[in-house]
Amino acid sequence: MISASGSIVVLTGAGMSAESGIPTFRGVDGLWEGHRIEDVASPEGFARDPELVHRFYNLRRAALNHVEPNEGHRALAQLERGWKGGFLLVTQNVDDLHERAGSEKLIHMHGELRKVRCEGCGAVLTWTQDLSSGTRCRACGGIGGLRPHIVWFGEFPFEMDRIMAALAKADLFICVGTSGVVYPAAGFAREAARRATCRLIEVNVDQTAISSHFHQHIHGPAAVELPKLVDSILHGR
Ligand code: OAD
Repeated sequence: MISASGSIVVLTGAGMSAESGIPTFRGVDGLWEGHRIEDVASPEGFARDPELVHRFYNLRRAALNHVEPNEGHRALAQLERGWKGGFLLVTQNVDDLHERAGSEKLIHMHGELRKVRCEGCGAVLTWTQDLSSGTRCRACGGIGGLRPHIVWFGEFPFEMDRIMAALAKADLFICVGTSGVVYPAAGFAREAARRATCRLIEVNVDQTAISSHFHQHIHGPAAVELPKLVDSILHGR
């Protein structure tokens, strides 16, 4: 499928964590339910009603205490450990299930629920508690400057240069559980396909907006299909 020294890039989306019990964004039980996206996931929404935005992310942060990585997360960590060539895991997910499963070569391009950022001093802090407009920054002592370390609509995803460099030399691109409607991540398959020798595999329970870019489609839940795919990559089965 790919030479032993080849480079692998994996992109994951909300479907990756679905079987851990975290609802996807665009599913029937979608996370935005009850909230307009622009109210809870934009700088303008935060400026308008910071307490609403804090409550929304406080609930999601607290929910992380009740979920565990699934077999799909564990399979990707096993792939990283067992693979001798280049490897990068890019996730759009803001949960911490990849790292809890053991992944290390990981980029959270849309930020992390368990981090906050101070708009006063720029510090990025690990955070497991609730946040409000009255919370004091542990780094500078300022009040009112902390916000979730999440990429909102209209903001730039993190580490795009590193991601694009990895895609430019990828021999295998695996895309798991993303609907392919939010850019720039939705453009990664097309980017990887610019390299004629790169093989593209999509793992999803459904067809997506970007399915046509892939050579192979694995239809099924990530927690079931990824262990089999990783086994075949590592052991040629
Ligand atoms: P979506 O909710 O848009 O898409 C989830 C995808 O996962 C769909 O294609 C489902 O078919 C698929 N899926 C569901 N369960 C699955 C399972 N068990 N195994 C495999 N696939 C499954 O979520 P994303 O594509 O991740 O951005 O959404 C992208 C971005 O939109 C998010 O990162 C978020 C949101 O706005 C920010 O917060 C910045």
